[in-house]
Amino acid sequence: MNLKEQIVKEKLPQHVAIIMDGNGRWAKGKGKFRIFGHQHGVTAVRETAEACAELGVKYLTLYAFSTENWSRPQAEVNALMDLLVKTIQKELPTLNKNNIRLDAIGHLESLPDSCRKNLDDAIKETSSNDGMTLVLALSYSAKWDITKAVKQIAEDVFNGQLKSDDINDQLITKYLSTHNIPEPELLIRTSGELRISNFLLWEIAYSELYFTDILWPDFRRDDLYRAILDYQKRERRFGKTSEQTSS
Ligand code: IPE
Ligand code: IPE
Ligand code: MG
Repeated sequence: MNLKEQIVKEKLPQHVAIIMDGNGRWAKGKGKFRIFGHQHGVTAVRETAEACAELGVKYLTLYAFSTENWSRPQAEVNALMDLLVKTIQKELPTLNKNNIRLDAIGHLESLPDSCRKNLDDAIKETSSNDGMTLVLALSYSAKWDITKAVKQIAEDVFNGQLKSDDINDQLITKYLSTHNIPEPELLIRTSGELRISNFLLWEIAYSELYFTDILWPDFRRDDLYRAILDYQKRERRFGKTSEQTSS
């Protein structure tokens, strides 16, 4: 049985989130500039999105550019923004072919105008697709999102629209930019780094974490299947005992 056939449909994660890391090291290993790695990362994005959609995963969130990534050399930031515009344009037919709806989270106002426009257009043009939702995290960081939510909650309490007693887990979730997306059951990070780098801190409270040494440009369908198979072997206890969970 190949890897894909081993996946149990009934235990498929609804939402997979990925920290796509290792593009720079992949390029360096080949004696090329970092952007070469980013360019090749696009193939991995296409393969992963298609594979998730085929399996029936409902949401795929990709960490494409963090708030902290703005501190990279200007030339790399520009090249990444340029790549984003070109990729969105080029991949639009593939998204439609695979019935994938595009969405984005992050401080999108800080993206260059051309980028923002392309993104908005692609979001509109795929809005009626109802297979999988592909969420791009752009100029995103979890602390940015949580800070924004806290400010809005404070304002709503001040305006009398909300009582401080109403503030609970569910309410905070509603104020985050991920409010209409279920929490990811599975979070994957490539490139061997064992950290979260300010991604979805609130939403991954109970996610299963999967780390692989594979550098993002080398990530293919079988690597995704391996991550899902690993996830399916785990017992998600949510604070309960193993006996309670299996009964
Ligand atoms: C991930 O690859 C892509 C982005 C953060 C935009 P990196 O560019 O971080 O690659 P490494 O970690 O330097 O190898
Ligand atoms: C995290 O990768 C951000 C993205 C994948 C977009 P980084 O490469 O920026 O993370 P750190 O800085 O090594 O933690
Ligand atoms: Mg990195």
